Amino acid sequence: MRKIKVAIIGAGQIAQTTHIPAFKSMENVEIVGVSDTYENVAGKVAKDFDIPFSCSSHLELLEKCNPDAVSVCVPNKFHYPIVMDALDRGCHVMCEKPPAISYSQAKEMADKAKSKGLILTYDFHFRHGTNVAILKDLIENGKMGQIYYTKVQWLRKAGVPGWGNFISKDMQGGGPLIDIGAHMLDIALYLLDYKKVSYVSAISSNLIGTKQSNGLMGSWNPEKYTVEDGLFGNIVFEDGTGIGIETTFALNMKEKDVRAVKVYGDELGASLFPLEIYSGSNRNYQAVNYPYISDGDLHNKALENFIDAIEGKEEVLVKAGEGAYIQMIIEALYKSAEKKEPVFL
Ligand SMILES: NC(=O)c1ccc[n+]([C@@H]2O[C@H](COP(=O)([O-])OP(=O)(O)OC[C@H]3O[C@@H](n4cnc5c(N)ncnc54)[C@H](O)[C@@H]3O)[C@@H](O)[C@H]2O)c1
Repeated sequence: MRKIKVAIIGAGQIAQTTHIPAFKSMENVEIVGVSDTYENVAGKVAKDFDIPFSCSSHLELLEKCNPDAVSVCVPNKFHYPIVMDALDRGCHVMCEKPPAISYSQAKEMADKAKSKGLILTYDFHFRHGTNVAILKDLIENGKMGQIYYTKVQWLRKAGVPGWGNFISKDMQGGGPLIDIGAHMLDIALYLLDYKKVSYVSAISSNLIGTKQSNGLMGSWNPEKYTVEDGLFGNIVFEDGTGIGIETTFALNMKEKDVRAVKVYGDELGASLFPLEIYSGSNRNYQAVNYPYISDGDLHNKALENFIDAIEGKEEVLVKAGEGAYIQMIIEALYKSAEKKEPVFL
């Protein structure tokens, strides 16, 4: 059996904890090399995971290893140039989320993948959950009725990431919206089948990250904190329905971490994490709990889906064009918060 040759670009936290172990566990995949700007990091990871080649330049990696596919695990700012280079050299690409730092970049990436006939997908791993699939099925079969409002939240009480570049707007393109809220927004847009957006409005804050210096996920330099610590917005579709989004790295609230996707239809309502379906009327709302369905490791599912798609066994669940769509909405929410006015799309 010919194995699929995969190279890893960026050897930090997500590469070490998810991409490399997942690919290592697949019989039909061979990791042929790894690169990181810091050669010593690439070298150590190659040694730790028994990867035969390491270097500091992704171009050298692509040239010397000639991989069939790459995983792009670098800070957001570098997704676009590295994905474009990999596509230009004929590689299928799994890129970490978010797709890029601007809509124009994400659109160009999707267009290039399409024109080259290559797979480009993103690690929006929550979308691979079985519970998401069940809810999608209920919506498509009309069981929920007409969905008129969806609420998405990823709120962290004191969850500014203390590692990497997550407090740098230049490197990441933003804070909690582009980093964690994007996961919940991705699920909602998928459930609602990428309806056409009319306009968005948002407010954002950066009063806590610029003042405090440590929290539950490590410490940071408040003087270098250039991203929002909270964004609160609305996305209004052309049919008059909408999504409310709330996402924070830091918020003076009771809970440590709140993750939610809540879908309200005129027949049933539902929420994820865990999946519950609500029916009834007036004060008699009743939660219908689905038996707990283990989702397994969703990063593994996303990476398996990528490899299966390369082998022609199935389609990728997260398509490149959908990545461009979410990037368009993220950009519009940031623009609205900055300009303090609605942004029409
Ligand atoms: N899907 C998820 O839930 C999830 C979780 C964590 C991180 N991520 C994403 O993964 C990406 C990386 O995050 P991380 O937590 O691993 O960060 P990290 O800082 O731990 O690792 C990034 C690595 O990339 C290297 N790097 C920087 N520029 C490079 C370049 N041009 N070429 C090669 N290597 C380069 C850095 O030296 C570093 O080792 C980000 O886009 C982040 O949003 C996704």
